[in-house]
Amino acid sequence: MKVLVTGGTGYIGSHTCVELIESGHEVVIMDNLYNSSAEVLNRIEQITSVRPAFYEADIRDHAAYKKIFNEHHIDAVIHFAGLKAVGESVEKPLEYYDNNIYGTLVLLEEMRNFHVNKIVFSSSATVYGDPKEVPIREDAELHTTNPYGSTKLYIEQIMKDAAHADSDLKVCLLRYFNPIGAHQSGLIGETPNGIPNNLLPYVAQVATGIRDYLRVWGNDYDTVDGTGVRDYIHVVDLAHGHLLALEYLNKCEENVCVFNLGTGNGYSVLQVVQAFERNSGRKVPYQICERRAGDIATCYADTTKARELLGFIAKYDIDDMCRDLWNFASKNPEGIQ
Ligand code: NAD
Ligand code: UD1
Repeated sequence: MKVLVTGGTGYIGSHTCVELIESGHEVVIMDNLYNSSAEVLNRIEQITSVRPAFYEADIRDHAAYKKIFNEHHIDAVIHFAGLKAVGESVEKPLEYYDNNIYGTLVLLEEMRNFHVNKIVFSSSATVYGDPKEVPIREDAELHTTNPYGSTKLYIEQIMKDAAHADSDLKVCLLRYFNPIGAHQSGLIGETPNGIPNNLLPYVAQVATGIRDYLRVWGNDYDTVDGTGVRDYIHVVDLAHGHLLALEYLNKCEENVCVFNLGTGNGYSVLQVVQAFERNSGRKVPYQICERRAGDIATCYADTTKARELLGFIAKYDIDDMCRDLWNFASKNPEGIQ
């Protein structure tokens, strides 16, 4: 298949491009490089010996799609492009709605104009809010607590409505749990902008000496050691899930499908710190601090549906994730420039 990957030079997008190319698919990337670097194209080429077609363009730009869809016969779209910082979305909600939601509307409109009718979308476990029970099933109640999460929820609804109205359109919504780690080559990985918000990018910066110590946000949750529990998934496993989703869209009867992509295992902050120390040989000093506003105690996926329908099984464990993250972080202390 020839696949348009929006946000393809970003963290998850770049790993998915590698998986697609290695499985014999052709990749066309559209990214405005707001949160990534064109150097990623060289890295993808180093890993796969194939350089993907690249368009430096904004997903809100109608003309860009006309050019891409006229120059390539696209079979499906994987839609990663978007802004993703929860805190920033509270400060700048209009920018988030414009970029994420309006950008998706333009994409869907141009897909319709050019008869491109399969799309896989990057949703997030954030749409479950504070879940009533874990593991979380896809049919759990949905609700969000910040504008970033709301963009995911609204886009899910927009895609469902679009597929309801157009029987040719097939949509796969993938709800990611916590993607971490990096490609085993150490050539691609996550490059956070500024001070990282997420746990693993912060831990890596403590280990490389960029930050002094980790602040652990609360140790009074009802969990194994009081710190927050999450379902961390290796980004290479997550990327593979997109391939399975594309295959599923080619054969499924339904117009809309929704899958959790996680491992089904929860690890606490302190368990992750220990795993990282074990696999990096570095100490990660930390201090226990107040809870972070908006955080929940425990979140992990029920993986039954993805396993049964997609055949998705995560191959990598928390040690692999920490080892590969450290390999990338120690080789690229400044990120990918
Ligand atoms: P990322 O920031 O590394 O990648 C997103 C890419 O989209 C970047 O390369 C950026 O330059 C590009 N982009 C942003 N706005 C654009 C626009 N208007 N036009 C064109 N390109 C644009 O993020 P990521 O971690 O790879 O996340 C990919 C997707 O997965 C996002 O939609 C994100 O919300 C979602 N997601 C991420 C996580 C996570 O923890 N990383 C969890 C759940 C869901
Ligand atoms: C955050 C986002 C969520 C998003 C997800 C993946 C918030 C409130 N939620 O979720 O919407 O989908 O990232 O991108 O931001 N922790 C520390 N110290 C740190 C950083 C994190 O103790 O410096 C703890 C957190 O309290 C949490 C765990 O580590 O218990 C994981 O945090 P994080 O990586 O930010 O992910 P989420 O909170 O799951």
